[in-house]
Amino acid sequence: MLFRSKLPDVGTTIFTVMSKRALDEGALNIGQGFPDYPIDPDLAELVTEALAQGRNQYAPMEGVVELRDQIARKLEASHASRFDPAEEITITCGGTEALFDAIQAVIGPGDEAIVFDPAYDAYEPAVRLAGGRCIRVALQPPDFSYDWASVGAALSGRTRLVIINSPHNPSCTAIRAADLDALAALVRDRPVTILSDEVYEHVLFDGRSHASVLAHRELRERSFAVYSFGKALHATGWRIGYCVAPPALTRELRKIHQFNTFSIAAPFQHAIARYLAAHADRLRDLPRFFEAKRDLLAARLERSAFRPLRAAGTYFQLVDYGALSREGDLAFADRLIREAKVATIPLSPFYARPPAMTLLRLCTAKRDETLEEAAARLCAFSERHAGR
Ligand SMILES: Cc1ncc(COP(=O)(O)O)c(C=O)c1O
Repeated sequence: MLFRSKLPDVGTTIFTVMSKRALDEGALNIGQGFPDYPIDPDLAELVTEALAQGRNQYAPMEGVVELRDQIARKLEASHASRFDPAEEITITCGGTEALFDAIQAVIGPGDEAIVFDPAYDAYEPAVRLAGGRCIRVALQPPDFSYDWASVGAALSGRTRLVIINSPHNPSCTAIRAADLDALAALVRDRPVTILSDEVYEHVLFDGRSHASVLAHRELRERSFAVYSFGKALHATGWRIGYCVAPPALTRELRKIHQFNTFSIAAPFQHAIARYLAAHADRLRDLPRFFEAKRDLLAARLERSAFRPLRAAGTYFQLVDYGALSREGDLAFADRLIREAKVATIPLSPFYARPPAMTLLRLCTAKRDETLEEAAARLCAFSERHAGR
């Protein structure tokens, strides 16, 4: 049978590839972004309770009411404005489904989406499946800043979507309010929607606060904002996220959502709703928790030639291996798996057009012992190779 792939050039993601290599080689995996420590026992108890209470049938398509109410409260506390849980909040299968649904809702054949380079890898395939095309605009080295003049030049009559992400994976930077103003000015008179991936909203360091499209008077009217309880509650396997958007955009998103996943695991939604009602304050500990891990890793790498680029947010940390090798990042990351027994994520797969660079992404959502062991192995590797 003749079969034509719709995504002929798309292979297995770099995360799966590196995690499999880590298993094969018996390496410590600090590449893929998932915690290796348990969730809050209070949250685990609430899941057991929801199961025991028989919350096991289809949840409402939009999401469990109590959960959407709690999200509305959380948004009001963060942004001092009201969001209607009935018409503006939808529970999705992780942030990933929200991203996919929003893209399908906006992009049609021939449409263009502006995506920054580097970017999280889920955006481009979803745009292409919808018949659209990504126009990549490079974040500027060395600090991955936005060049809004380039974005202006990339906008065309076909542009329907601009996808932003802050805190940003993989660069670990955070967008500033002035960037959002610049974006708003560029799209003001255009039929362009914003998709704002804010799954790391709680993980910002050194006293920074999160610049959300939901807090931006103009952008809020034209944005889908995407969040993930997997990230906020250290439970990536639960696959619970949500999308916040004005009613007209939410209606379109739900048309996709109802025929995609329809509704999301009911007991987890009930458990999260009760957890937020009782312990919403615990989310405020996240910056301190991850900042301590960032600082631990940086301190332990100090006597190595790996140079951390101080992360502004996310639970990742970039390190520069340029003092050790000029090898490409894919080859170097594979060498680290074999020789240091540490799995990391190379940066070039996040790019459409990777520049010459020597950066790896490490995940700091790991137990302190895991980070200490990984750093010790990287220091030993560095000692063996420095000056060669
Ligand atoms: C930037 C970014 N967006 C979205 C996601 C997907 O979130 P979820 O696991 O909730 O689907 C991730 C996961 O790593 C991410 O890093």
